[in-house]
Amino acid sequence: MTDELNGDLNSKHIVLGLSGGIACYKAAELARALVKAGATVQVVMTEAAEQFITAVTMQALSGRPVFTSTWDARGVEGIANNMAHINLTRHADAVLVAPASADFMARLLHGRADDLLSLLCLARPIESCPLLVAPAMNREMWAHPATQRNVAQLRSDGTHILGPGSGEQACGEVGDGRMLEPDELLEELIGFFRPKPLAGQRVLITAGPTFEPIDPVRGITNLSSGKMGFAIARAAAEAGAEVTLVAGPVHLATPRGVRRIDVQTALQMFEAVVPQASLHDVFVATAAVADWRPASLSDQKIKKNGSKAAPIFELTENPDILAAVAKQAMHSGRPFCVGFAAESHDLLKHSREKRERKQVPLIVGNLGPATFGRDDNALVLVDAHGHRELPQANKLTLARLLVADIAVRLAAAASSS
Ligand code: CTP
Repeated sequence: MTDELNGDLNSKHIVLGLSGGIACYKAAELARALVKAGATVQVVMTEAAEQFITAVTMQALSGRPVFTSTWDARGVEGIANNMAHINLTRHADAVLVAPASADFMARLLHGRADDLLSLLCLARPIESCPLLVAPAMNREMWAHPATQRNVAQLRSDGTHILGPGSGEQACGEVGDGRMLEPDELLEELIGFFRPKPLAGQRVLITAGPTFEPIDPVRGITNLSSGKMGFAIARAAAEAGAEVTLVAGPVHLATPRGVRRIDVQTALQMFEAVVPQASLHDVFVATAAVADWRPASLSDQKIKKNGSKAAPIFELTENPDILAAVAKQAMHSGRPFCVGFAAESHDLLKHSREKRERKQVPLIVGNLGPATFGRDDNALVLVDAHGHRELPQANKLTLARLLVADIAVRLAAAASSS
């Protein structure tokens, strides 16, 4: 499932500003991704941006004529009053400047208005049309006190700074200052528009399988892909929470803004979760934790020897992470614990039983074999009063519904205490 297919930016109108920088080539991909996600995109370019990419390319990808000059007399949205700098933002949901060069940010900071893009940023209705900028520059330029001073001032003026990323730069140097990738900017923008019912809350999530080694090359694991847990981490971050994601061995990108701790075994997951659980408001256990691990670990590969029978492994039980956190929560009142039940049959019955056995207020049931590794799922939310079904949908959609449901429960608990 991609953001593009979700239509997450349906009915959003974005002014995409390009200032001068080699990262302009990424803006082409970004414009395409924004359009595919449902947004209408109006591109505005500075003279310097036109040195890196042509307005023709940006027009083709956005499907709209590009504006580059303050003196452009073409009408905007049917208004032909020769005031592009006013008209371009009056119906916009946001201005996103990507790339934002060091020079452009300095000009924004001083309220300069000597080119169309900085002029429209200054003239935009500040309440209804937020400004987001994605810095793109050499690492020394980014680290320079002048730039850092400008970034701090832009933030306090209400500008949202996206990134920058870190890594190899066009000049060959390595460090901070790269523009975020188009898919990262898309994720940031989608998250920016989402409601924030978990603002100020701390959420801890486990995700993926665990891997219990038998010897240096073999182990016990399961088919969990981690996708549901990662989707919940993203949905919680979009909802404004500070999110920590403890992940078993999976190959998934970390959602934007999420702190990730990688672990391999159930014991490592237990150690990463239990000591810090009570510092959180919510704990969501989506991980498919292996119930057993080999009682002993061979430090050398166990060899197949023709004369011997197949080895027999003794197993020992892993600690139950969710039950341990739920026990803490019974004493301290936090975190609010949400368990998952991955079943193969009798989903509602097993989910109810599991909720009582684990002593948690909410269990989310799903059919494991039908969902492991897939992009969609169907959930049933089981609490002390009954159940609610969330029908088949992609995992991000379900994760957002679940997060909204949890936020309502937290708000209800807060108002009754
Ligand atoms: N869980 C956990 N630690 C474990 C086992 C499970 O935190 N050692 C959590 C899972 O993350 C999930 C819930 O407990 O939120 C239920 O996991 P599941 O594997 O469905 O249940 P089990 O307790 O293992 O019971 P069973 O295997 O008998 O269904």
